[in-house]
Amino acid sequence: MTIPNDETIASKAHLLPLLRGAIAAVRGHRLEEAERLLDAILNQEADFADALHIKGHIAMLRGQLADAAALVQAAIDKDFHFEDYHETLGKIRLAQGDVAAAKQCFGAALTLNQASLGAYTGLAQALIAEGDYEQAVAALRNGKAVNDRDPELRYLLGFTQMARGKPKKAMVNFRIALALNPEDQRYRSAYARALRGLRLTRPDPELIDSVLPLLGAPGVEPRDLSAVVESALLLEPTIAGLKPLTTNSSAEIAVFLQSPASPDLSKLPLLMAWLRYGLVSERDLEALFTALRRGALALGLGDAAALQRHAIWLAALAVRNFHAEYLDIETEEEKHRVELLRHRIRKALAKIPAGGTAPVALLTLLGCYRPLYREDFATILPSLPWPESLQELKRIQLGEPLREITIAAELPSLTPIEDATSKNVRAMYEESPFPRWNQPVLGNDMPLARHLRAALPLQNIPEITIEKPRVLVAGCGTGLHAILAATSYRDADVLAIDLSRASLAYGKRKATELGIPGLRFGQADILKLGSLPDRFDVIESFGVIHHLREPAAGLAQLVMLLKPGGYMMLGLYSEIGRRDVVAARRLIAMHGYSDTPDDIRRFRTDLEKLDPELTERLRRSSAFHSLSDLRDLVFHRQEHRYFPQQLETLIGDAGLEFLGFEFTTPDTLAHYRKEYPDDPRAISFAHWAEVERQHPDLFSNCYRFWLRKPV
Ligand SMILES: C[S@@+](CC[C@H](N)C(=O)[O-])C[C@H]1O[C@@H](n2cnc3c(N)ncnc32)[C@H](O)[C@@H]1O
Repeated sequence: MTIPNDETIASKAHLLPLLRGAIAAVRGHRLEEAERLLDAILNQEADFADALHIKGHIAMLRGQLADAAALVQAAIDKDFHFEDYHETLGKIRLAQGDVAAAKQCFGAALTLNQASLGAYTGLAQALIAEGDYEQAVAALRNGKAVNDRDPELRYLLGFTQMARGKPKKAMVNFRIALALNPEDQRYRSAYARALRGLRLTRPDPELIDSVLPLLGAPGVEPRDLSAVVESALLLEPTIAGLKPLTTNSSAEIAVFLQSPASPDLSKLPLLMAWLRYGLVSERDLEALFTALRRGALALGLGDAAALQRHAIWLAALAVRNFHAEYLDIETEEEKHRVELLRHRIRKALAKIPAGGTAPVALLTLLGCYRPLYREDFATILPSLPWPESLQELKRIQLGEPLREITIAAELPSLTPIEDATSKNVRAMYEESPFPRWNQPVLGNDMPLARHLRAALPLQNIPEITIEKPRVLVAGCGTGLHAILAATSYRDADVLAIDLSRASLAYGKRKATELGIPGLRFGQADILKLGSLPDRFDVIESFGVIHHLREPAAGLAQLVMLLKPGGYMMLGLYSEIGRRDVVAARRLIAMHGYSDTPDDIRRFRTDLEKLDPELTERLRRSSAFHSLSDLRDLVFHRQEHRYFPQQLETLIGDAGLEFLGFEFTTPDTLAHYRKEYPDDPRAISFAHWAEVERQHPDLFSNCYRFWLRKPV
């Protein structure tokens, strides 16, 4: 959106205050006020090009793209020589998925003004959508000559470099974009993704300074940062100096921790942040933390006062262990000592005078082994005073889970759960809510049609006039998916259901804390959903119906709930993508591991010997490093997997139209279109089967695809 052009200023000066007011209102996101002012102008001067243009801009923001295009085209018809109008029309055409028209508009803007930065970035976006990265880079270079400190331009440059397999170059651009606009979640996620797999071979404090703010920030997946953070930690002299401890006895480690020479690990900010928000996945670090925990336990039972000095980093370790759900192996000696520790804490609690503090050092130690909220003395702990430095531990291990227990009891039950597999799967997710997550990924708050067009750039998604779409998230797990949906579809009314009350309660607590509007949670079995009176414009179900005994039966229920013309997104396991999981499941069956926490821990350790190469590959998955994730990954009680042709049958039998797979970057679709020009919408299952044969990890997470119910 622009300020008025010079001709306007000369000829329509009397309307300028209204126009300026409208611009200020748009900038302040007061769209209705802006429209009122623009209508007042257009009532007096129906051909006022700037007013038409801004009105078009507002329609674009609202997702009313056909209206937006007509208004901006009218502005261009009035005043062809103003490049901003062409640029806005280009953006509208892009949102409509009409890449060729968008390119023309940006080209026209550039003919009028070669220094139009927005036209260069718009043109680059259009070229990226076509998969023409070379030309996109050329457009961005021209833009860079105009302004090399524009964050969006740097972001797009990085994006093209990632797509062309140049993460190091991309990293530089994402880092600049993020420095210019630290609040943009896209820049943060992109920078983290570019860092994935980067291992430091020597210290790089400057890089680490740019990584630290990413930890715990929304939109960042910890596994993207595992390599860079953990390699930096292993290079850290204090940590490297502790490595020999891993072969010492508990008593020796306790003596070391007791000595004043032992380091205070809470002084290492990267370590503290990684324990609180990260995902410990390096064997050496895992071994070190297991050893330190063992030594601290021995120390705590012998000299509790000496433990005090280590309480802050132990609290961070307790947070990490809670998030990983105590995945590390415990010796029999430790199990025995944990019982002694509990006994010691009970005795201390019984003797606390009025106004006295909790035995926090001992509790911190116990929190490294067991979740505090499950202890029989848990409910009295929150009311005792805790020092400021341990408040986070208190919140994570007591406040939040105790609140979830209350929420779980209050959740509405929307359907009965009677099917034997549903009961079995429910029991699993009550014990191990999935996924464990810290920071949400928030959506882009777009009108329904724009959201669908962004997800499905090759389909001709028609205009959709629904202002408040009704969305169902079927099998929402712990709410990450539901929160993403609620923040993606503008003004949506979202119902999120799941079998597991523990998972739903986790999601509801998080959604309440984050202040997510328009999101409700309820317990229900997909197999019984047809009995609900509600009907939905969109249904999303990712990673769920493959856990039903008969996925087709669940899909039929979802189809019943979808309005005619409604859209559905499914995520289903790929047989090829999960070949390592299949191999692990075979080993689990062969050696008779059960899905109890102890057996899951044992399997994780034994796998190193049973199949070192498989272990190596599975360790790369974030799911390998927390108990419920690992359970979900390889111990699931019920799962189906598919080849593309089987998806075709499932979808066809359900009477749905296939709208294609969704990818996070446009390169896969661009590559497909070059390879298979006979299928410009990229919906041939036979072709996709061939693509997957050539790229067996393409769908290693899941097939993620969209469907439409015929009208
Ligand atoms: C792998 S998790 C996926 C969670 C979420 N969609 C996500 O992507 O984060 C599978 C979830 O599906 C739920 N589920 C499985 N069968 C279900 C059923 N019959 N009805 C409702 N939910 C079900 C489980 O309880 C579990 O929370």
